[in-house]
Amino acid sequence: MSKFVIIGPSSQILGLRIAQRMELKYINTFFKTFPDGEHYIRLNLEDESILKGQEVIIVQSTSPSARSDQNARLLELLMIIDAVKRIGVAKITVVVPYLAYARQDKVFMPGESEFAKAVLRILNSMEINEFYVVDIHAPAVLQELECKAVNIDSMKALADYIKSLGTEDIVVVSPDEGARERSKAFARHFGEDVPVEVFEKKRDVETGDITMSGSLDLKNKDVVISDDIIATGGTMSKAIRIAKKNGAKKVYAVATHALLLQNAKYRIIEAGADIIIGTDSIDNEAAKVSLAKTIVDYLE
Ligand code: R5P
Repeated sequence: MSKFVIIGPSSQILGLRIAQRMELKYINTFFKTFPDGEHYIRLNLEDESILKGQEVIIVQSTSPSARSDQNARLLELLMIIDAVKRIGVAKITVVVPYLAYARQDKVFMPGESEFAKAVLRILNSMEINEFYVVDIHAPAVLQELECKAVNIDSMKALADYIKSLGTEDIVVVSPDEGARERSKAFARHFGEDVPVEVFEKKRDVETGDITMSGSLDLKNKDVVISDDIIATGGTMSKAIRIAKKNGAKKVYAVATHALLLQNAKYRIIEAGADIIIGTDSIDNEAAKVSLAKTIVDYLE
């Protein structure tokens, strides 16, 4: 059985890097939106029979960007899966570095949907064989899948990059309680004794407004604030302000998925960050770290 990488529209560079690293043939996609708003996608191949009976690795983040929203990306992913199933591939591995709706994993107010779980049930209904996601917001939702489901850890790749910048005297800061364990694991990549500080964050479930507090001595420290997602930058910029107020020398704003929506970049830099570091799960200017090697290590 041969393996092919199918490069989805939102992960073109990452998909290509994965294919090249694995020395696999790859197929790109043609995509458009019809005037009525419906999405269209087609694998760029002339002869479908090359895929029949083979294994495909589909790479498609489902993140919003200036070019497209996450709903389009999700539908494109389902369309690619449907296309390769119709062609008759033998095995479907799906790599979704950023999974849309992952933050809607539980009910905060009466009448809500746990849509993260529903998204995974939809994928499950398409009878895929393996599913890989990177630093998903709430790993427990992966239980919705009956196939092999893997939450890839990007911490080492991010830490290696940060260390290469010549950081010293590091403190890792978690902007909220939810990221405590993740931040502890992250800190270990910088050394056994690297301290972890956790700020207290409260989000108003109706307005989305955030309040944050934390008081500690960060004088002359390189402060690495790490989160799974930077969306509007509200969480990160609040954490940066506290870090600066407490004496931080340098501040690294780090997230696996730096969506940088609206004026997030401005808010973060204005708050005092020296650099924003993300991965190519999101194909934007913050993607300083490629996930290609990490993902390939898991796939192999
Ligand atoms: C929330 O629990 C997440 O881990 C992130 O902190 C959050 O999604 C970031 O969103 P924003 O950048 O809009 O504050």
